[in-house]
This record gives sequence, structure tokens and C-alpha cells, in this order.
Amino acid sequence: MSTIGALHATEILDSRGRPTVKVSCTLAGGAHAAVSVPSGASTGRAEARELRDGDPARYGGLGCRKAVANVETTIATALRGRAFAEQPALDRALLELDGTADKSRLGANAMLGVSLAFARAQACERGLPLYRHFADLIGTQPLHLPRLTVNLFSGGKHAGGQVAIQDVLLVPGAATIDDGLAALYAVYQAAAALSAERYHARALTADEGGLAPPFEDAQAMLATAVDAIARAGLRPGVEMSLALDVASSHFYRESRYELDGNALSAGEMIARIEDWVRRFPIVSVEDGLAEDDWEHWPELHGALHGRALTLGDDLLCTNPARIRRAVAENCADALLLKVNQIGTLSEAADAYALARAAGWRVTVSARSGETEDDWLADLAVGWSADQIKVGSITHSERLAKYNRLLEIERETRLPTVAWPSVVT
Ligand code: PGA
Ligand code: ZN
Repeated sequence: MSTIGALHATEILDSRGRPTVKVSCTLAGGAHAAVSVPSGASTGRAEARELRDGDPARYGGLGCRKAVANVETTIATALRGRAFAEQPALDRALLELDGTADKSRLGANAMLGVSLAFARAQACERGLPLYRHFADLIGTQPLHLPRLTVNLFSGGKHAGGQVAIQDVLLVPGAATIDDGLAALYAVYQAAAALSAERYHARALTADEGGLAPPFEDAQAMLATAVDAIARAGLRPGVEMSLALDVASSHFYRESRYELDGNALSAGEMIARIEDWVRRFPIVSVEDGLAEDDWEHWPELHGALHGRALTLGDDLLCTNPARIRRAVAENCADALLLKVNQIGTLSEAADAYALARAAGWRVTVSARSGETEDDWLADLAVGWSADQIKVGSITHSERLAKYNRLLEIERETRLPTVAWPSVVT
């Protein structure tokens, strides 16, 4: 049993300079922990609602003082002195207090802050590293380290829309996180040099640290990524593969995909993605179709099956009900898990369990608005994720997670997951 002693919250700033929430939890036994909550920009419509102040005179309405007040008053008053055996009991209490389907009363930012701070305080009370505590929450042991999936080039909502697709990411085949990061550095440097040569672009970076030269189209983005891998002296598809976050909900209008100057039907969009997967070493495709285009996802999944993962982000929103539907309709074979899309750790664990029961792969993902907190690395290890997607290998809010993975790798000596293949 862990009894809540005190709960406090502060409004802090994320990597875009926008407000977010930091929550600290002290248990009656003295254990104390704090957690910062991330925030997205390329958000799915089915995500739980962050509470923002809406005062245009302060941070353009994005202030989090109301969410902070909810932690310190409503939530703290209701929970102080109460004992919870486990995470689900605490999260159920939060859900009851909120009472809405989308967490709009207390705010998903306030609720997730409390949910995670309690988890970290319990890990501290139990004297366990956070990844072990996260593994215990789902009744497992950490089996392996996740495969890094790292932003190289960005477009879409993270880079001013110079090209519609959101991210081309690198997936190292190295046997360790340590070797993977060294290989990623080499490719990132080669890509920065190629961007300067071909686009006369200084290495401007997008929200998650990806390079953002003015590519003429998605194909140029992919071809330049492969050239950068080769220029770094690595074998494309062996030592370094690619992943895509198409984020196509954000260029889907009136049943058409507005890509590279064309208005594609769903069938044409699927054919385009299939063509990319045939010509480039792509091992995973996220949000290839829009969040509302349920009808065509099974066709996309069929087209990619056996070649690349069909990964759902905006489609699924880490939401158990949406995952159940996607499993039933055979829409995908991998879940992108963002805890703040659903708003409590236990509901994210339910989403995770559903995906695993269906035999799916799982990618644990950061948000484009991040903080220096590193709990995400522990979550990815604790839940034995297949991929971790944090952003580029620049910017400290991203590196906090990679540096934590290095620490966990040294501590545990766990192998990196075999997917998609390991090069030794
Ligand atoms: P977001 O995007 O954090 O801005 O929502 C990340 C992603 O689409 O994966
Ligand atoms: Zn995405």
C-alpha cells in the first residue's frame, strides 16, 4: 500500500517554449518523485484533452495554470491520505474524479502528471529502477532494449509543411544502443552536408530536431536519406534502415490525400506508399492513411504486410476502444504508444496489452513538445517495446531519453530487440 502524502504541480515550459505541467508526489512513507508531461502538435482527434487556460493574453491561451490548480486542489484534496495498493486503483480514482470521457474536466495533462508521479514515487519506495517498476505493472520482466527510430528529415506540422509527410526516420541495425547512436551520428552529419550541397540549406531543424531542407517532394526526402546512409559508409537496409511517419491525417481533405501537388484517392495513396516501400529500405510506416479513413486501412495493411510494419498513431490514439476496432478489422500490426494520448498509465497498459494479445509490435513514442524528463526510456524498456521514437539525436529533451537508454544498457546488459534484424 502506498499512501499519498502530498501532491504539487508547477507550470513549466516544454521544448517549444509552451507551458506544460510538472507534478510531484510524496508518499506518506517519505518517497518523493516528480514527472513532466509532454505535449503534441500533430495530434489525433481522439486524444484525451489537455486542459489549457484559454487566456489569449498569456502564452496565446496555452497556459496550464488551471491544470496545475486542479492537481493542487481537486486532486490533492481527494487523494491525500488515501492508500493505493497499485497503479490501477490510483488511476481509477482519477477517472472517477474527472468523470468525463475525454478527461476535459481535470485535464489529461493534470491526470497523467499525477498518474506518472505516483508510479515514480512507488518505484522509489520499492527501491527499484523505474523500468523494473513499469515492467511489474504489466506483470513482466524487461526482455530487451527497443530499436531506436530517429528523426532524420522532417516536414508536415513539425517543419512548416515544406513537404507534406512528417518524418523520415533512421533505424540502426546495430546490436547495441551505443553502436546505434554512433552510426546515427555519422548519418546525421552526412545528411546535414548533403542538405547544404543540394539545397543550400543551413541545418535548420524541426520541432523534434530533424533536418528540414526544402525538398521538392517526399521521394527526394527518401532518396536523400538513402544517400546519407551510403555517404556515412553504411549499407542501406542492413546497417541502417528507414521508417516513415506519414502523418497523413494532416493532409487529408474531402477524402483526398494532398501530397506533392496531387490530390490522391486512398487507393492511389496506398500505391504510392507501396512504391516507396519497394524502392527504399523502409521497415515501418506510421499513419500511412488518415485517422478517419478506417475503410482503407485493411488494404494498406495488406499491401505492406511482410515488408514493413503498419503502425497506427492518430488512428489509434493509444485508445483501447480504437485498438479493439483496428484489431477486429485488421487495420494494422503495430501500435504507437503515447501515454498522454490516453491520459493515465493504466489505460496505456490496457492499450499495450490489447496490442500484444493481437501479436502486434509496439513503438513507445515521445511527443514533439518534450521536456528534459527521461521516464519514457524506462517505459520503453520496462514494457519491452520494439521501437522507441524520441526525435533526432540533437536537442537535450531528446538526448535525455537516449542518454537514459545508454545508462540502462550499461546497467542491464539487455540485448537490443532483434526486429527488424541485428547486424553484428
Ligand atoms: P506530435 O507528433 O507529438 O506532434 O503529436 C508526433 C507524431 O506524430 O508521431
Ligand atoms: Zn505520428
